[in-house]
Amino acid sequence: MPQSGVVINHYLDREVIIMGIKYLEKQRVFKLDAGQTSYVIGVVDDEGFLGHVYFGKRIPDQYLPVESFLRLNEWPQVPSRNNRERLSFNDAFPTEYSTFGQGDFREACLAVKDAHGHSVCGIKYQSHRIYAGKPRLKGLPATFGSEEETTTLEITCKDEILNLEVVLVYTVFEKLNAITRSVRIRNQSQAPIRLTKALSACVDLNGNDYDIISLHGSWARERHVQRMPVGLGKRVLSSVRGESSHQCNPFMALAARETTEDSGEVYGFCFVYSGNFVGIAEGCQFSTTRVVMGINPEGFEWLLMPEEEFIAPEVIMVYSDQGIGKMTRTFHDLMRGHLIRGQYKDRKRPILINNWEATYFDFNTQKLLDIAREASKLGIEMLVMDDGWFGRRNSDNCSLGDWVVNEDKIQGGLNYLVNEVNKLGMQFGIWFEPEMISPDSDLYRAHPDWCLRVPDRTPCLSRDQYVLDLTRPEVVETVYAMLSNILKSANITYVKWDMNRPLTDVGSAYLPPDRQGEVSHRYMLAVYEMMERLTSDFPHILLENCSGGGGRFDAGMLYYSPQIWCSDDTDAIERLEIQRGTAMVYPLSTMGAHVSDCPNHAVHRTTPFETRGYVALAGTFGYELDVTRIPEEDRALIPSQVALYHRFNDLIRQGDYYRIGSYAENHVYDCWAVVSKDQTEALVTYIQVLHRPSFKNQRVRLKGLNPEYYYKDAETGEVFSGSVLMYGGMTMTGIQGDFKGKLIHLVRVEPEEL
Ligand code: DGJ
Repeated sequence: MPQSGVVINHYLDREVIIMGIKYLEKQRVFKLDAGQTSYVIGVVDDEGFLGHVYFGKRIPDQYLPVESFLRLNEWPQVPSRNNRERLSFNDAFPTEYSTFGQGDFREACLAVKDAHGHSVCGIKYQSHRIYAGKPRLKGLPATFGSEEETTTLEITCKDEILNLEVVLVYTVFEKLNAITRSVRIRNQSQAPIRLTKALSACVDLNGNDYDIISLHGSWARERHVQRMPVGLGKRVLSSVRGESSHQCNPFMALAARETTEDSGEVYGFCFVYSGNFVGIAEGCQFSTTRVVMGINPEGFEWLLMPEEEFIAPEVIMVYSDQGIGKMTRTFHDLMRGHLIRGQYKDRKRPILINNWEATYFDFNTQKLLDIAREASKLGIEMLVMDDGWFGRRNSDNCSLGDWVVNEDKIQGGLNYLVNEVNKLGMQFGIWFEPEMISPDSDLYRAHPDWCLRVPDRTPCLSRDQYVLDLTRPEVVETVYAMLSNILKSANITYVKWDMNRPLTDVGSAYLPPDRQGEVSHRYMLAVYEMMERLTSDFPHILLENCSGGGGRFDAGMLYYSPQIWCSDDTDAIERLEIQRGTAMVYPLSTMGAHVSDCPNHAVHRTTPFETRGYVALAGTFGYELDVTRIPEEDRALIPSQVALYHRFNDLIRQGDYYRIGSYAENHVYDCWAVVSKDQTEALVTYIQVLHRPSFKNQRVRLKGLNPEYYYKDAETGEVFSGSVLMYGGMTMTGIQGDFKGKLIHLVRVEPEEL
């Protein structure tokens, strides 16, 4: 056993290295290197405290000042040297996974209720394992990577008194500044143990002068960016809505005060989970900031019987020393390459037209075919039939759960409609809301106990609907059978999976009293299982998630669906901030964005049709309007928008995204660019929100280009050097009026072409 607190690394006598992870045995240090990032963990003292040494820009393996970074060289010191101050040690030690009840008074990750009713717990290092590759998380969404791309460290810790094993799992991505974390907790005792808190990640950052960046909003105003100092005390981000929520996204970043879009340090944390969550940044007394993230402990309990295991979902941690923009690009690369799956992972998606804003519930076969006929002539590739095709659903007050085609509306049946659409050369997609039940439905009349509810309490209605109790296997089976019958009955190649209310009255008639605290998480696991089943039974189907707009836009959902409807607010100007916030973490290829009609249904604003197209091009692109009824001059523009999509979607889907200007900050314009990985091509989008005479000849400094290259504006033929465009800027000319915009396509020109 090495002496406690031994520091210096130049005595290395043995190293275990598997690609990005090293165990420096003499110092009992784990060094994780992901791209240009290092993350260092130390085991100290005879008891095996697991401490957080370092997270940041990549550093060498030698001469790591482990002792001072773990604060062991100062009072109170480790318990083996100063046990009279054990509590002070526990409250100051930068830990890798905080536990409740023995003097670490900062935010705990793990809390229990043991067989005797006690809450105290504490874990110590036992052993570890390093291996190539990344394990799956049973039943949960998670990033993935091959043995060449990833290395995993599992540190097994134990609470010896409780006989509770806690395995901290870390995976590094060799080429990305990204590390993932999750936790497995196993009851090795003979008695039940109740987990009352089981978070996924804890990082004790040095210093307490960070800003916290987070994404907040409401229905039709999702993911607006907020930045504020953490200060001392706790900043809490959370959802208890049973979904990741419109109000607060499961993402947070801790940035140095001076960090900007393009410079400075920032740590991003993204939870790969779609239900209740908490993310807390806590400015602590000894100039540290603790960051924790995981399943929200409010209303949560999990009963672990002997030998049972609980898996806490994954947190993605991204480090950038080149500002928020670089953090964003790392998240995008990670999610595009290592989270999104299925046939559409790297493929262009069909341009769809959705009938929701065109017809709402008032449609039938004829109306849909009229839209499809017109759309197909304009180059649109798929018709999506939204809410209202089933049961007796002519408004939002009935029939959820009765997934049977309403042939009064869909005259001739679904197969006929789909065939007719197919004959036009278009694909067909359909809307479901599988997790819900209307009180006015045959399903509810037959099974009133199938919704989430607590005995003797009337459950809260929202949009006139209840939430199905998906912890009951027969509910899942029944709903899935209805869904798959519909999907098998016609040539359907797209599903929009909607969820239009949060969870309340979270009680299940299926589970016993001592497992009621598990309902929310079990509900999420059931949703994931259904989506896994759907995507493997129907691998050709493009799944788009949705939750009353963007109430479940999270990394968990991206594991099952490569795209998510961003917001019910389709106004091009409102979308600027919604899409800027969303794209801070999630790739452009995932953002459901459509051109809709004006005045806009959400905000009643009228914007130019071109501008609506430019903004939607930054996402999945499609239409949400009655193409048979929009003004002729708008309709006439659709073929050219379709052409833009085909010309630029590969670049937009695969390129590097740069935020250049935001109306929320400069009060004049939004500007962003997508640059190809080889920097030979860029698409710049400029939207002038407010025309101000004094901003004539607005010059905008571009980003992400190669300063050594020369670029031609594909439209004007004008040639610029990359360095001039980035350091001097590009002048935005010819934009007259509010809400006007333009696209600038820059293509590298070889010196001999100049
Ligand atoms: C909410 C979605 O965001 C809309 O696009 C639409 O599908 C409605 N639900 C249908 O009820």
